[in-house]
Amino acid sequence: MQTLSTFRKVILITGCSAGLGKAIAEKLVRSDRYRVVVTARQSSFDKLTSIFPENENTMLLPLDVTQDAEISAVVNEVCRRWERIDVLINNAGVCFRSVVEHMDVSAEDLQMRTNFFGPVNLMKAVLPIMREQRGGHIVNISSVSGMVSMPTMASYSASKHALEGVSEALWYECRPFGIHVSIVQPGFINSASFKNVILSPKARLSYELRGPHSEYYDSMAPFIEKLMGYSFSRPDAVANRIMKLIESNNPPLRTKVTLDAILFGILRRVIPGSWFHKMMFYFLPESKHWGK
Ligand SMILES: NC(=O)c1ccc[n+]([C@@H]2O[C@H](COP(=O)([O-])OP(=O)(O)OC[C@H]3O[C@@H](n4cnc5c(N)ncnc54)[C@H](OP(=O)(O)O)[C@@H]3O)[C@@H](O)[C@H]2O)c1
Repeated sequence: MQTLSTFRKVILITGCSAGLGKAIAEKLVRSDRYRVVVTARQSSFDKLTSIFPENENTMLLPLDVTQDAEISAVVNEVCRRWERIDVLINNAGVCFRSVVEHMDVSAEDLQMRTNFFGPVNLMKAVLPIMREQRGGHIVNISSVSGMVSMPTMASYSASKHALEGVSEALWYECRPFGIHVSIVQPGFINSASFKNVILSPKARLSYELRGPHSEYYDSMAPFIEKLMGYSFSRPDAVANRIMKLIESNNPPLRTKVTLDAILFGILRRVIPGSWFHKMMFYFLPESKHWGK
């Protein structure tokens, strides 16, 4: 049982084996101010045990966010051992790439289950606990793709738009109970995670056979890779912004955490939609040649 003088917020975070999740978990653990529940899929769990030593303030648990039984097991175990959950960080995510015509049901299903239904089910699992505590904070990692859609990124954008829609509704529903809801919008992060982007099977086939959308794949993948390489924002810096958000007494609903995200936010507000899309089309690489 924690006393007032020894109180530490209990923070549960998903997808800690790599990238942003790993950076956030490392910062939280190193700060020695919280009780941190560090999670990853069973297939990546070994990576966790080699990075995060388990102790009275760090708990390591396997969690695939697409598995309801694992969500229940994690939430029950945290409540059994630490009796509360103060912050949920929905970080785990996947990114499929294909034009809309090449989207396929199994890829869409996994995309939505990981980036949308998984986070929703986690929120549903922790909300009764937070409501009982009369306080808590849900932090959903979205993306610039939650406000802007780019060609070949339809499925990923749809999952992040969906996550933002739910988060916004939840903000109103949670306010009377003292529970905060935050949407974090990173743009391009300078990391190797573009290597994890998955080309849907139809997209791969069309690309290999030089189908009518091959120019989209030719130009968009290197473009995104380049922008990630040029980005000043490293996972560490984004993790710092998320730490500040968690420590804030009055966190905003939306926080843009990279320069390009701030820029996109401004452009979307000041430029009328029809101009914005034409401008984007003009600036996308090789777009003049698409479809020729
Ligand atoms: N990188 C960027 O530029 C960028 C930009 C905007 C938004 N974001 C968002 O930031 C978050 C983190 O992305 P990242 O760049 O750190 O990606 P990443 O390096 O690819 O890491 C993704 C993490 O999610 C985990 N994961 C995937 N499916 C999972 C599942 N079903 N259950 C539990 N964990 C799962 C992965 O674990 P495994 O090791 O098991 O695969 C990995 O730890 C994502 O929500 C992403 O959409 C990233």
